[in-house]
Amino acid sequence: MSSNPLEIEFAGITFKNPFMLSSAPPTMDPRHILRAARLGWGGVVMKTVTEEPTVDPRTRLGVLRKNGKAIGMNNIELLSRKPLKTWTEDWIPKIRKEAPEDFIFIASIMSSPEPEGWTALAESMSQTGADAIELNVSCPHGSPEKHMGAFIGQDPTLVEQVTKAAKKGTDLPVLVKLTPNVTDMVPIAEAAVRGGADALSAINTVESLIGIDIETATPLPIAYGVDKKEQLSTYGGFCGPAVKPLGLRFVSQIAKALPDIPISGIGGIEDWTSATEYLMVGASTLQICTAAMWHGFSIIKGLNEGLTKFLERKGYKTLDSVVGKALPKITTWTALSKLPPLVAGVIDEKCTACKKCVIACADGGFLAIQMREKVAVINNEKCDGCGLCAVVCEDDAIEFIHTN
Ligand SMILES: Cc1cc2nc3c(=O)[nH]c(=O)nc-3n(C[C@H](O)[C@H](O)[C@H](O)COP(=O)(O)O)c2cc1C
Repeated sequence: MSSNPLEIEFAGITFKNPFMLSSAPPTMDPRHILRAARLGWGGVVMKTVTEEPTVDPRTRLGVLRKNGKAIGMNNIELLSRKPLKTWTEDWIPKIRKEAPEDFIFIASIMSSPEPEGWTALAESMSQTGADAIELNVSCPHGSPEKHMGAFIGQDPTLVEQVTKAAKKGTDLPVLVKLTPNVTDMVPIAEAAVRGGADALSAINTVESLIGIDIETATPLPIAYGVDKKEQLSTYGGFCGPAVKPLGLRFVSQIAKALPDIPISGIGGIEDWTSATEYLMVGASTLQICTAAMWHGFSIIKGLNEGLTKFLERKGYKTLDSVVGKALPKITTWTALSKLPPLVAGVIDEKCTACKKCVIACADGGFLAIQMREKVAVINNEKCDGCGLCAVVCEDDAIEFIHTN
């Protein structure tokens, strides 16, 4: 057994830690990628390349804020701005030469539904020294208009076809990156596995309209029409902390349906706790984009340290033993006991008398909370155990108590 508690096997590759930068601006060129390598990231998935380099609109990022704090971001950016040859002939060899040997480099490719493009791209990437190849069948904007990205990823037949085609061009492990812009990801994941996928990555961004500038009635992020004057926008891909619940849902569903396929978890991972949540629903490597864009690559220190301390504190000997730990407890709604004798209780020392729970329970609940001597008090007879008070309490002052 390795003395490094964060080491993990994924699709036949040994990662020194599970953290990768996902395919996005932080992996756009060797400068970024080598900096990540120096700072201790386990690996990267390079910015996706296709046959033709991309030119992007400006601006192309929008933000969702809550009380001034960014909680989500959308983008209308496409793929790598550099031709395939720059990656295969200059950049990947440079990264391979200068990055430590245990730094994992995954190539990301995209093509149209015709198999030839996938085979050719996979072939050219396998000759570069990449450790694995990720198939981007999940970009939700721009690409689908060209019958690429999520256009393919929403159709199991096409996913199977392009996965088979990519496998034909390479002996490297192939990861298929899935789109959350579907009702059920499981049939798509199964199709990828039928096509020969060695692992799955989930999730790519969620198709979204981030907001409207109400002063000018203009959708965001503001870009420009082809005349370069008219302000326009389009649907983009949503990511960051706000998408974590969607990522956890999809990753847990594919982990349950396909227990033998390794999953790289993506979507709103911003610290070691959100990372651990993904591990517990079945991911064995983790990819991060937004948090690295917002806070810089040095977040890797806190991720590695936090996760190591957690393993120690909980007595987990290996990272692998955390993977899927929460899955057996995710059941169906029908299998849940209805109306167990459970009520909310206020932890007096933590209550700041803000009255948020009183207001919420009056109008969104069962009128079960009153203020008494500057502390919220719950009427057990009226409390229905719904949990709304805990949702609005910002002081972590609510606990749940079994009444018998
Ligand atoms: C600006 C931007 C560009 C992206 N470009 C790509 C891309 O080229 N290929 C890809 O597979 N995913 C791309 N993504 C999606 C991310 O890799 C990731 O799946 C998504 O942002 C969710 O992770 P996060 O919540 O940590 O940001 C991009 C995301 C952003 C924000």
